[in-house]
Amino acid sequence: MSFASGSPKSEEVADWTGRGTPVCDLGSLSPGDLHGVMGPRNIERTTVPSPEDGMGAGLRVEGIRKSFGGLHVFSDVSFTVAPGEVLGIIGPNGAGKTTLINVACGMLRPSAGRVLLEDEDITGRPIHATSRRGVIRSFQQTNTFRNATVRENISRAVRFSRSESNAWKKISPLVEAFGLEPYLAVQSDKLPYGLQKMLGLILVCAASPKVLLLDEPAAGLERRERPRIDVFVDHVRREFGCAVVIVEHDMELVRRLCPRILVLDSGRVLAEGDPAEVLSRKDVIDAYLGAVDEEAR
Ligand SMILES: Nc1ncnc2c1ncn2[C@@H]1O[C@H](COP(=O)(O)OP(=O)(O)OP(=O)(O)O)[C@@H](O)[C@H]1O
Ligand SMILES: [Mg+2]
Repeated sequence: MSFASGSPKSEEVADWTGRGTPVCDLGSLSPGDLHGVMGPRNIERTTVPSPEDGMGAGLRVEGIRKSFGGLHVFSDVSFTVAPGEVLGIIGPNGAGKTTLINVACGMLRPSAGRVLLEDEDITGRPIHATSRRGVIRSFQQTNTFRNATVRENISRAVRFSRSESNAWKKISPLVEAFGLEPYLAVQSDKLPYGLQKMLGLILVCAASPKVLLLDEPAAGLERRERPRIDVFVDHVRREFGCAVVIVEHDMELVRRLCPRILVLDSGRVLAEGDPAEVLSRKDVIDAYLGAVDEEAR
C-alpha cells in the first residue's frame, strides 16, 4: 500500500467531488491487501449521533422556490434533517424532487428561500464549496469513473476526500458488504448495473459526508439488491452521523428507512410526517400512490 499526496490526476475527479487536496493513493492495493487495511470484516455497530451530541443542526431548507424561466417547479418548500436522521422525499415524476436536491446541494440557485447547514446560510454557494462542507449528493444514474477500475475509482474518491487519511477504512466495510472485493481490478462500466450503483454510493461516502442527498438510490436495482441501500444508509448514519435525504419511488424502501417523509406534488409540499399516516391520506394516494402501485404491479 502506498500513501502519497499529489496533484489531481484529471479534471474528471475535480468535477465529481469539487474538492481540494488529495490525501492518499491506494491505487496499488490488491484485493488481498484490503483485509489488512480495512479493519473489521463486518460493519461495526456504533451509536447514531443525535443533534444533542454537538454534531450541529444538520440541513435546513427554508421557503425554497425554484423556477426555470416561466416554468415554476415548486415554491415554499421547507424541511429540516438532523444529523443521524433520515428524511424521505416522494412525489410523482416531474414534481421537482431532483431539482430540490440540486438546490440543496448548490448545483442550482433557488429563485427564493434559504439553505442552511449547521445554522450557516449556504444559499447559492457553488457545489464545490458545499461539498467541501460535507453536503454531498448522489445521482439517479450511476456516477462512477467509467473507464477506471473499481480500485482506482475508490482510490480517486479517497484521494479527494475532505480530510480523511482514514476514509478508506471508513468505507471499506461497504466494499465487502456489497460484494465488490472480487471486482477490484474490473473496469467499473463492466460491472453489473447493481454493483455500479453501489460503487457510486461508496464513492459518495468517501467524501465523509455530513448531509447525504440520495436521488433514487434504488432505481435500477433488482428487488433482491435493494436491502443494500438499507445497509448503506445504516452505515453512513453510524459512521459519519450523516443527515440523510432519500428521494425514492420504492415505497417499501421508504417505509423501512424513513421515519419522516415529505410529499412534493404540483409545485408544493402536499404532506409531511410519519409515513404510515401520510401514505394513507387520500390526497396523497390520489396524487401519487395510485400511480406507484400501478408501476409496482
Ligand atoms: N435545468 C432545467 N431547466 C429547465 N427545466 C428543468 C430543469 N431541471 C428540471 N426541469 C424541469 O423541472 C421539473 C421537475 O423536474 P425534476 O427532475 O426535478 O423532477 P423529479 O421529481 O425529480 O422527477 P422524476 O421522479 O422523474 O425524477 C420538470 O418539469 C423538469 O422538466
Ligand atoms: Mg428526479
